[in-house]
Amino acid sequence: MSSPVVTALPDESVADAAARMNERAVGSVVVVDGDRPIGILTERDMVRLAASGPAAAGVPVSELMTADPDCVQPGESVQEALVTLSERGYRHIPVVDGGALVGIVSLRDLMRLAQIQPVVHPGQIEAPPGLEGVIVAETQVGDVRGLEGFYHYRQYSAVELADRRSLEDVWFLLFEGHLPSPDESRAFADEVRGLREVPASVRKLVPAIAAAGGPIMDQLRTAVSLVGHSQGFRPWLDVPAAELRRDALQVCAAVPTLIMALHRYGQRLEPVEPDPELGYGENYLWMLTGERPDPDRARAVEQYQMLTIDHGFNASTFTARVITSTGADLAGAVAGGIAALSGPLHGGAPSRALDLLDAIGTPDNARPYLVDAVSRGDKIMGFGHRVYKTTDPRSEFLRGVAERIRAAKVDFATQVEQTVVDVLAELKPGRNLYANVEFYAGVVMEDVGLPPDLFSPTFASSRVIGWCANILEQAADNRIIRPSARYVGPPPPQPVPEA
Ligand SMILES: CC(C)(COP(=O)(O)OP(=O)(O)OC[C@H]1O[C@@H](n2cnc3c(N)ncnc32)[C@H](O)[C@@H]1OP(=O)(O)O)[C@@H](O)C(=O)NCCC(=O)NCCS
Repeated sequence: MSSPVVTALPDESVADAAARMNERAVGSVVVVDGDRPIGILTERDMVRLAASGPAAAGVPVSELMTADPDCVQPGESVQEALVTLSERGYRHIPVVDGGALVGIVSLRDLMRLAQIQPVVHPGQIEAPPGLEGVIVAETQVGDVRGLEGFYHYRQYSAVELADRRSLEDVWFLLFEGHLPSPDESRAFADEVRGLREVPASVRKLVPAIAAAGGPIMDQLRTAVSLVGHSQGFRPWLDVPAAELRRDALQVCAAVPTLIMALHRYGQRLEPVEPDPELGYGENYLWMLTGERPDPDRARAVEQYQMLTIDHGFNASTFTARVITSTGADLAGAVAGGIAALSGPLHGGAPSRALDLLDAIGTPDNARPYLVDAVSRGDKIMGFGHRVYKTTDPRSEFLRGVAERIRAAKVDFATQVEQTVVDVLAELKPGRNLYANVEFYAGVVMEDVGLPPDLFSPTFASSRVIGWCANILEQAADNRIIRPSARYVGPPPPQPVPEA
């Protein structure tokens, strides 16, 4: 604040008060009765007065001032003072201690101060770390109810859909908003199966991408970008909705083919062409080996893929929506989603969960191994979830799938699951940590013949449908997603050192 304050008396003339403001180069005078502020006269009042004619300068201060001005206490924070100024539209506010005027704070003072300490701009909302619990959009695609252990696609339980429908029907549901009739189901399956082939100009680049090495998730990002480029995907802001939908179908249909082609080139094998006669899961395993898969195993992988199509505003879906919100092309948004999903805290955990089972080795070793790991501060892969505070319904369903196909590790995994839950309840009480989707995903995927380097890509193979449903929804009602961050670095502006 500034002190001492330039003051005026209520019965002196406005002209005298204005002369004092001018002389002391201040934008306001506080009108006092003794040391008590009873009003404030600002430059803005002067302008108002000047507009009413030359004789006005003789009027007394008391007629023009704003009486009983809002004041702040000396102990009030800069942020609070800034908010008061901004909400009320003031540029000056007197500081009063026990009824006596002790200073004045101007917007200019606060701006100077704001440069040397973190600023919260008026109207800003402080979000919790990790945006936990913050609603950032409206969606009709689906949602997760963490306390109930339930999630849904549109208005249907996702688990029930995985139990009773084909992946292509669920894909239709996510894109069109309703489950297909038998005719629609056939027509949609024909449409998307016809798009499984990788465009020729990308196909010839796939061996080079695979030869560059690295995780298939990284290779897939590159390949998806090339599909977008080769097919002339444009920023969605420039394309009609029907064209964006077509782009989405093409990327979703081509991703499983790209994954398997990249994997096979990595094994020094020629890719197996997709077969339009086969269902989604059957075709996926067909492209892995070139052999007709066992129908139970094809259904198991398809059910895993259905369970992982969408899951609320998870990190990769949010990423895809943020990219879409800028008007960028669909392939760019999907590539961003793949990058987000590759992280071990999101979709990169199923092979690590299987590694955990291997590292534990025997049921007897589970407890000491886990106590040691949790006490060291390690995260147990395949456990815990941001939203679920009870059992993850996907993990329960996948345990059932693993039992149905008599997966080799299911009994051991079930024993370890219980021990992990017990150990975490003891060592991390109150955190409600249970198996998530990734724990049994590895067990199922291993049993259907998928090697660990395909676990996260298989998650991506169907999550791309969820991303695209969200991309279409974002594009249909868009506002750029642009939050703020609190600057906590060294106070600016520091002088720039000479080079
Ligand atoms: C999924 C996950 C990232 C959610 O993270 P989050 O919501 O930010 O939760 P936090 O990491 O803040 O965890 C809260 C507490 O539970 C503990 N916790 C969470 N998951 C844990 C796990 N898998 N093993 C051990 N402790 C765990 C954390 O250490 C933390 O304890 P603290 O309060 O003593 O610090 C987290 O549970 C995790 O890392 N799990 C393992 C990786 C995994 O399975 N990922 C696949 C997710 S589908």
